[in-house]
Amino acid sequence: MQRRTLLLAGTGAVVAAASGWTAWRVALGSSTDYAHAMAMLRRPLDPSAGVAEWLRFATLAANGHNTQPWRFRADAGAVWLLPDPSRRTPVVDPDDHHLWASLGCAAANLELAAAASGRRGTTSFVPDDGGALRFDHASGPAEASSLLAAVPQRQSTRSVYDGRAAPSGDLAQMLAAASIPGVATVLLTDRPAIDRVRDLVIAGNTAQMGDPGFVAELRDWLRFSPRAALARGDGLFSACSGNPTLPDAIGRRLFERVFTIDAENDRYARQLDSSSGVAVFLAERDDPAHWALAGAACQRFCLMACAAGLRTAFVNQPAEVPSLRGELAALAGLPARRPDIVLRFGYGSALP
Ligand SMILES: Cc1cc2nc3c(=O)[nH]c(=O)nc-3n(C[C@H](O)[C@H](O)[C@H](O)COP(=O)(O)O)c2cc1C
Repeated sequence: MQRRTLLLAGTGAVVAAASGWTAWRVALGSSTDYAHAMAMLRRPLDPSAGVAEWLRFATLAANGHNTQPWRFRADAGAVWLLPDPSRRTPVVDPDDHHLWASLGCAAANLELAAAASGRRGTTSFVPDDGGALRFDHASGPAEASSLLAAVPQRQSTRSVYDGRAAPSGDLAQMLAAASIPGVATVLLTDRPAIDRVRDLVIAGNTAQMGDPGFVAELRDWLRFSPRAALARGDGLFSACSGNPTLPDAIGRRLFERVFTIDAENDRYARQLDSSSGVAVFLAERDDPAHWALAGAACQRFCLMACAAGLRTAFVNQPAEVPSLRGELAALAGLPARRPDIVLRFGYGSALP
């Protein structure tokens, strides 16, 4: 009898462990499914497939918290990029600066995809009804470029880099790609300047993480499992920042215990210390049209960096925290401007 009880208890424990493991695996989702979906999303452009294909490329652009804050409308000869107000991030981006910069990033990709499909054009800001970007296009010779090929390859790589300096020829090409009237791109590659940016990033991160509203908004856009990342199709998948994957409900509960100010500041210090340099984008005016131009310049910079084998990652805290903007703008040599975007770049291995 005793043996039978023991056996039943043992079998019960094994069944419970197995079903717990199965439940865990189901809640987590499959990394293989995730990798397959990403490979599909990031396949090369089919230039004969028309506007839907341009929009796939547009949505591969950098965008704040990966909110995908856009809607598109195609008319004869024009594609509209409209802000999606339901995807605002009012704490980190109260004036929709990042939302417009994100639309500018998408417009840069859209222009490249259309040009490769034999439709050349320009994007302009249309102020009516809250504003939109309109890409007007017409027939022209199909133009493939190294920037276009980099669109499905580029990603924000939030890892520690290897500290190597970037060749001046590559930096010149990145600056040339980012050259858009109305936007200055300033490169900081000497160590004392990078150190000052690091200190500003840490000051900004400390301020943001001390704000419960910021932390709650960020948590809302985090996806801890391949299942949640695929189901939502937006947000920040933890693996893409080098963090472990967990069933989403558990990740959400553990987040605030693991995501501490000291741990994050230490991480940012190591990331900046290992970077080849920092790029700061500063538009000449502080309005949605110019925020979008800054986004386009930044996207093209990242694409050229990617084509040259460099990684990029945003470290935007000193542009997001208003009290730090003045010092960053002065460091960039343009003290009267608002810094729009801050990126670090360097060499390192890819993350998911
Ligand atoms: C205006 C803007 C601001 C951003 N700020 C940050 C930031 O401060 N920190 C960060 O890690 N990523 C930042 N990002 C990067 C986005 O999170 C990233 O582009 C998005 O998750 C999509 O991922 P991908 O760039 O790998 O395609 C920013 C992107 C944009 C366009």
